[in-house]
Amino acid sequence: MIARRPLLLTPLVTAAAGPAPDGLHARAARKGLTFGAALATRHLDEPDFADAFAAECGLAVGEFEQQWERIEAREGVPNWAAADRLAGFAASRGILLRGHALLWHQRVPPWAREMDAPRFRAAVERRVAEAAGRYAGRMSSWDVVNEAVRPDDGRPDGLRDSVLLRQLGPGWVAEAFRLARAADPRATLVYNEFGIEHATRGDRAKRRHLLRLLEAMRAADAPVGALGVQGHLHAHLPFDAAEWRGFLREVEALGLSVLVSELDVNDRALPAEITPRDAAVADLTRRFLDATLDCRAVRAVITWTLSDRHSWIRRGQEAHHRRADGAVPRPLPLDDQLRRKPMWQAIAAAFDHAPNR
Ligand code: XIL
Repeated sequence: MIARRPLLLTPLVTAAAGPAPDGLHARAARKGLTFGAALATRHLDEPDFADAFAAECGLAVGEFEQQWERIEAREGVPNWAAADRLAGFAASRGILLRGHALLWHQRVPPWAREMDAPRFRAAVERRVAEAAGRYAGRMSSWDVVNEAVRPDDGRPDGLRDSVLLRQLGPGWVAEAFRLARAADPRATLVYNEFGIEHATRGDRAKRRHLLRLLEAMRAADAPVGALGVQGHLHAHLPFDAAEWRGFLREVEALGLSVLVSELDVNDRALPAEITPRDAAVADLTRRFLDATLDCRAVRAVITWTLSDRHSWIRRGQEAHHRRADGAVPRPLPLDDQLRRKPMWQAIAAAFDHAPNR
């Protein structure tokens, strides 16, 4: 028999607030969906932010603090403080925790890149075992592999010519999923990819290779459970709802579920004036989400940070993030003051309109 906890031992502090009844997650949850966003620990130090985040979100994913290079900047000296703080925040608000990413070519630590192949393999095995093992039972999903497909690299299998491929061989993606499963028997194991959403030649080629990779992994019984569609959309690129639905149906037919894992809209080609710009961002968001949420395999929508003030596009690290007119990008559902934008309304309406899961 399970002993009931004596009433007197119940903590007297009030729990921190979680998802609000009119927030995006509440809307999503009514349809069996989850809404969440990427988060960095420094955002939690902004006094107005943590509550706003928890009000809108039912899931938090690390913007970069769960990455290998961040955790193990020095070989063998892992620092889990930031990743643990994200996990603690999610637990304290009663929201899901998601991990990003066990293996990504851009976040392999410099010390590992120099190793010979056997030592590199051992380092990868240790990374996956330690990170997935540490959060096992707390992590709802892990991006096991991020961005492994790049047809432009010219390989017949479409795999990216990365340090992971060169050191581990083309079986590395499937192998990563087996390692992750051994360390965490429960988390949904996700293959996460960008540059697949639009009706362009490049995105189409990538989708073709990606489907082949996922098919091969399913055929080889690699424990992949979901595709993460990053959803870094570009307001100036064509989006074809019918074509996109067809792709999601093929993913679903492989027995996989789908997450929109990093949604934001690059507005660099839109007018600087805010009203039409926000309207166009909202319009693409709505068209993309309506088509996406039609597919019952889709389980979650996650934006890449929640407020314009934290957007990586705003930081302008990449040339394609910068606007020629110098206007400040507005890619996310909340503005700098955490006010709801037309993109927020578009996401809310897409959830309201979505079929039940
Ligand atoms: C971005 C972060 O938001 C930035 O802070 C960092 O400087 C670069 O990476 N695809 C991914 C994310 O999978 O990890 C990237 O995040 C955005 C593109």
